[in-house]
Amino acid sequence: MSRICVHGLGHVGLPTAALLALAGHPVTGRDIAPDLVARVNAGASGFAEPGLDALLARVIGSGALRASTQAVPADVHIIAVPTPLDAARRQADLSAVWQVAAAILPLLRGDELVVLESTVPVGTTEALAARLPAGVAVAHVPERVLPGRALTELVQNDRVVGGVDAAAAGRAAALYRAFVRGQLVETDARTAELVKLAENAHRDVNIAFANEIAAICARVGVDARRAIALANRHPRVEILSPGAGVGGHCIPVDPWFLAQAAPDDAVLIRAARAVNDAVPQRVVARVRAACARYAAPRVACLGLAYKPDVEDVRESPAVAVVQALLADGFPVSVSDPFVSEVPNGAVLRDAAEAIAAADVVAVLVPHTAFRALDARLFRGKAVVDPVGLLAGG
Ligand SMILES: NC(=O)c1ccc[n+]([C@@H]2O[C@H](COP(=O)([O-])OP(=O)(O)OC[C@H]3O[C@@H](n4cnc5c(N)ncnc54)[C@H](O)[C@@H]3O)[C@@H](O)[C@H]2O)c1
Repeated sequence: MSRICVHGLGHVGLPTAALLALAGHPVTGRDIAPDLVARVNAGASGFAEPGLDALLARVIGSGALRASTQAVPADVHIIAVPTPLDAARRQADLSAVWQVAAAILPLLRGDELVVLESTVPVGTTEALAARLPAGVAVAHVPERVLPGRALTELVQNDRVVGGVDAAAAGRAAALYRAFVRGQLVETDARTAELVKLAENAHRDVNIAFANEIAAICARVGVDARRAIALANRHPRVEILSPGAGVGGHCIPVDPWFLAQAAPDDAVLIRAARAVNDAVPQRVVARVRAACARYAAPRVACLGLAYKPDVEDVRESPAVAVVQALLADGFPVSVSDPFVSEVPNGAVLRDAAEAIAAADVVAVLVPHTAFRALDARLFRGKAVVDPVGLLAGG
């Protein structure tokens, strides 16, 4: 058994730490947030991830996992800290990764394994290794879990295991074999970094294509969803669904990490970012046009999260739409069964009440709960529905 220290107890680090503890390793989860550390030690994750609180109660209860604000000496360090976008430079902000490197440096003997799970630009894992003593094995094992299915996907997904050298990849693969039932495919660190970024850039480019088709359809008077459904009858065509924009902290962010390596070559990737970033403003323009038909229009926005059936509002295009409508001076009600805080000035309401009190309804997120809404509620309302909820999309 290896003593493991997991740095960053968020959506990635906490379930990983818990699964390693369940597999029998003594695990310390370290986070800089003292309230989070106290909560985890009390057996609660603090976010909605099915099965995670039960797993935590078990591994905290058995003593296999404990949380701390302090880094501890360990055989394996796993780094799962945030790597946000520095929006001004459109480059990765790696400060949390370097903070962890500095925190563990005095603890290292020189024969440990250090695994970087955070999403990073190509070359970061090698740069991390250069900051650590020779002899420390360093690998990048990127994460591809879907929030809400983390415990299932952590176990079942295939993982790319990129070592700074082959020995590091081998050691990291042996570690993850403790709980991963998917394939662990060993490669070098740069390839693993690029693969992770390419996955999310691929999603972004394909969503941009769907959004661009929807914009063209609107200009020429064609029903975009119908057109896409018909195009997808071609055996080799699979156009995604258009929406209100692209949100979350991965898909709108990671393409920039890829582009920063070679901006001149990342033409399509940067264009896709521009296309998707422009979508919320198109939605706002449609709502404004609908509002123009009323003397004192009241607006209801359905959905605030960045995608269906999650509570996460990070980079959410729905938030951008609501903020723009508030800035226009419209009274805006927001309904989202997963969200308890709305932008300043908006009022959080039950969906049926919000619709009933509105002249214009903007459907921004197709939460499953909204599908059960009685279609009669929308009668007589001006409905802007970029996500196709009412069309069954
Ligand atoms: N959430 C996902 O679905 C997902 C999927 C794939 C990849 N990723 C990547 O995984 C990484 C972590 O993402 P997340 O969603 O778990 O983030 P998160 O925000 O949920 O959690 C990160 C945690 O790290 C802690 N932290 C910040 N700085 C720290 C430091 N210096 N030392 C120790 N702890 C620190 C924070 O307090 C927080 O609890 C990011 O690079 C992200 O891009 C996330």
